[in-house]
Amino acid sequence: MLDKILFLLCLAAALADQRCMPGAPQGFHVRLSIKTALGDEAYVWNENEMFLFRASLAFAMRNHMGGQQFEVSNIIVCNETERVSFWFVVTSPLDTSQLIDQENVEVAVRKSRNRINGAFLLNDKTLEFIGILPTLAAPFIPATPPWLIAFGVVMGAVGAGIIIMLVSSVVQRKRKANEKTRDEDNDEETRVKTVENGAARDGVYNMSFSEDERFTEM
Ligand SMILES: *[C@@H]1O[C@H](CO)[C@@H](O)[C@H](O)[C@H]1NC(C)=O
Repeated sequence: MLDKILFLLCLAAALADQRCMPGAPQGFHVRLSIKTALGDEAYVWNENEMFLFRASLAFAMRNHMGGQQFEVSNIIVCNETERVSFWFVVTSPLDTSQLIDQENVEVAVRKSRNRINGAFLLNDKTLEFIGILPTLAAPFIPATPPWLIAFGVVMGAVGAGIIIMLVSSVVQRKRKANEKTRDEDNDEETRVKTVENGAARDGVYNMSFSEDERFTEM
């Protein structure tokens, strides 16, 4: 009798293992980097931690599929590695021979992502559900539609072009109008500078001086 029960238990375990394996169509690969995230404060991954993971996943499944009472036993984990990674599949609480499809598990995980991360003091980078987009990237919808951004950029460029053209034409006109009076001024300045400084350095100095003045007027 006991033998038979043991055999059945082993068979059940074997069956469970078969449905959960690396690359299983309804399975997900999870990777945790506890050391990276917490350094000296890192906790040791053990059976209790795995229980918490399965419980938090059952919680996520309950939240997503209202009315279905997922239990820890519905979360089947396999191929656990020491530097923590593992695979899991989710069985239906209504019929444990049925697996929950990947899409529903993905949505459930995404909905409760913050809660799951919080339970393990990790974030999207250190608690990876491979193939499931991080919390923020998934539901992100830009507040302003892309066409409006493009429109704004084009209109901005056109506006800037018009302003540049106006300013440059005004500056050019002003420069031309000032050209004559400036020539006279320059002559006068040159004379003054020649008195102040040596004659040799004077020519160079004056050129830059008049240039400076032109810029400040702009
Ligand atoms: C996953 O685990 C099963 C059972 O423990 C084993 O037979 C299989 O080789 C493992 N697969 C990988 C890729 O490690």
